[in-house]
Amino acid sequence: MEYCFKPIGVIHTPILEPQGAPIQAARSELTGTVEVFPEYAAGLEGLEDFSHVYLLYVFHRAGPGAELQVKPFLDDRLHGLFATRYPRRPNPLGLSIVRLEGRQGSRLTFRGADMLDGTPLLDIKPYIPEFDVFSVSQQGWYQDRAHP
Ligand SMILES: C[S@@+](CC[C@H](N)C(=O)[O-])C[C@H]1O[C@@H](n2cnc3c(N)ncnc32)[C@H](O)[C@@H]1O
Repeated sequence: MEYCFKPIGVIHTPILEPQGAPIQAARSELTGTVEVFPEYAAGLEGLEDFSHVYLLYVFHRAGPGAELQVKPFLDDRLHGLFATRYPRRPNPLGLSIVRLEGRQGSRLTFRGADMLDGTPLLDIKPYIPEFDVFSVSQQGWYQDRAHP
């Protein structure tokens, strides 16, 4: 079975190329805007009352041919693709938790951009610490990664 998703908007950021882009939203102070298409605008009501949101999107410039063993940006060793956030994946889905700075109609402004300009947006969800924060006991290769 296959599933087909249609973007609900587009993300605009100052990041024009993957090289040198921030590796994670939590490490980025770059601002971006989300332009939600008019037919979905009513679904944004109340979102501005959340300080952080999940953006789910397509790594549209990741290219074909996902490899199942990759060296993630922060390490020099090979790891299983699904143990990483590497962008080239069988389903090239990206996930960033960003700080929502405002909503102007169907346009959102946020801080924490780590995605390229023009990235197609698939979904938005509120970040709710009670559901989403865990005290973890293990962080795999990230704990003794090569790069800070
Ligand atoms: C390691 S990924 C992490 C993204 C997201 N926070 C996640 O965990 O899914 C971030 C990198 O993906 C690349 N990237 C960002 N947006 C992209 C896009 N639309 N297409 C292809 N590569 C992208 C950039 O090189 C960026 O540094």
